[in-house]
Amino acid sequence: MSNAESRRLVRIFDTTLRDGEQAPGCSMNLREKIEVAKRLERLGVDVMEAGFPASSPGDLESVAAIARIVKDCAVAGLCRSLEKDIDAAREALKNAAGPRIHIFLATSPVHMEYKLKMTPEEVLEQAVSSVKYARKFCSDVEFSAEDAFRSDPGFVCRVFGAAIAAGASTVNFPDTVGYAMPQEFGERIRYVRDHTPGMENAVLSVHCHNDLGLAVANSLAAIAAGAAQAECTVNGIGERAGNASLEEIVMGLRVRRDLFDADTRIDTTQIYAASRLVTQVTGVKVQPNKAIVGENAFAHEAGVHQHGVMANRATYEIMTPESVGVSKNQMVLGKHSGRHAFEDRLKELGFTVDADALETLFGQFKDLADKKKVVSDRDIEALVMGISASAPETWKLDHWAVNTGSALGASGTIRLVGKNGETRKLVTLGDGPIDAIFLAINHIIGKTPELELYEIGAITGGSASQGETMVKIGLNGRHWNGHGVSTDVIESSIKAYLSAINAMEWELSPKKNEELIKGG
Ligand code: KIV
Ligand code: ZN
Repeated sequence: MSNAESRRLVRIFDTTLRDGEQAPGCSMNLREKIEVAKRLERLGVDVMEAGFPASSPGDLESVAAIARIVKDCAVAGLCRSLEKDIDAAREALKNAAGPRIHIFLATSPVHMEYKLKMTPEEVLEQAVSSVKYARKFCSDVEFSAEDAFRSDPGFVCRVFGAAIAAGASTVNFPDTVGYAMPQEFGERIRYVRDHTPGMENAVLSVHCHNDLGLAVANSLAAIAAGAAQAECTVNGIGERAGNASLEEIVMGLRVRRDLFDADTRIDTTQIYAASRLVTQVTGVKVQPNKAIVGENAFAHEAGVHQHGVMANRATYEIMTPESVGVSKNQMVLGKHSGRHAFEDRLKELGFTVDADALETLFGQFKDLADKKKVVSDRDIEALVMGISASAPETWKLDHWAVNTGSALGASGTIRLVGKNGETRKLVTLGDGPIDAIFLAINHIIGKTPELELYEIGAITGGSASQGETMVKIGLNGRHWNGHGVSTDVIESSIKAYLSAINAMEWELSPKKNEELIKGG
């Protein structure tokens, strides 16, 4: 009979900030990356890949900032198998409590011939020399054989064996293009485990992409076959169809401990908050039926299901919503609820906030409770998300009004207060009220960012629900997200637009990084 102590521990290597962030529409600014990094640390990931330092000065800077702040898990920087990339990673990770240099080099015929223009022997030599070079500066070196699944298995074992002999402590087997089927992927991992010289001295890792929707299934098959590290991202974001989703791998192992006899260090009650944060900072929502974190993941609609769940939750629930941090608390908060009740609910929802943030949130909660009879957990989450990754307010909303109708165009009036206390007001005409107001804001701030995404939804059901708006704006090839919540959808849109504008103003201001890193 196994117990928690004897269970094999699978390491979770999170790459939300690297493979995830590199996906179209998922880019994050420095402030957002730091917020996500802190959440991942609280979630309990073993390694977080913070970026690809040689890819741009901005990436180097964000890996360095995260390495300075995060202390409870290893921080990895990705490198091609080149000395200049390893030097950049070494520089970025110099203040990390647990630095990891992650080197990748492709081993599949198609990549070696057309991308690298190298022979297999040259690839093997370069893998060895880059691992040796990295080991001069860092004791924790991971080597990835890019496109390993489409590579010759014997060749991958030779490269892995040589990388381990050169000092790699982790060897990673990616299904870079999401081509594998679970059974064959499991068999391949078993083969690599059994045929790689020195494998007993290193951790065998997998990294699966989701092109055929099998990234999680393949990762779990690999774990069953002996992989000891899984690379994944929150909400499964990543290149093309994404990476294996962290929450699905972790809950697969947790719910089916009986089968895998393995577990992770993840605090699963932090999963939902991490998912919401990633949604908010990327502006990329998960589909409602997404496993574990989708809006409907714990909703029981059919009468027969509801009846069963009321009699015993185990009839239709294989895990509780609470176990992943989704609160199903029946205690209602409203305008008579005090600070303690509010603080307790924040804790139950997995949020720890400092005294200043609590003060702000409690004020916002009271304002909201005046407008809405019942303040739901989703309303509270939205308030927390509104302050967690938001930039300092260069522009504050003071007042707004719109005039609109079916026959006429729309006009919008807006009054903003700048950071020096100056007030600016403008009335503009537009195709609709949102267009009019956004145009007015652009005139006031003297910039015309492009509106790349505008999405509006209701936080809870019913017409009394708060509106939640997400926007993405772009200027000169850079992008910023904004998020706004209000009982009025026009106000939630203005808040979202202004939060994106403030992120842009802050990001473009010269002093921002010193402030961020100091405040880390
Ligand atoms: O998908 C992949 O092969 C990668 C490597 C860099 C690990 O992301
Ligand atoms: Zn990848």
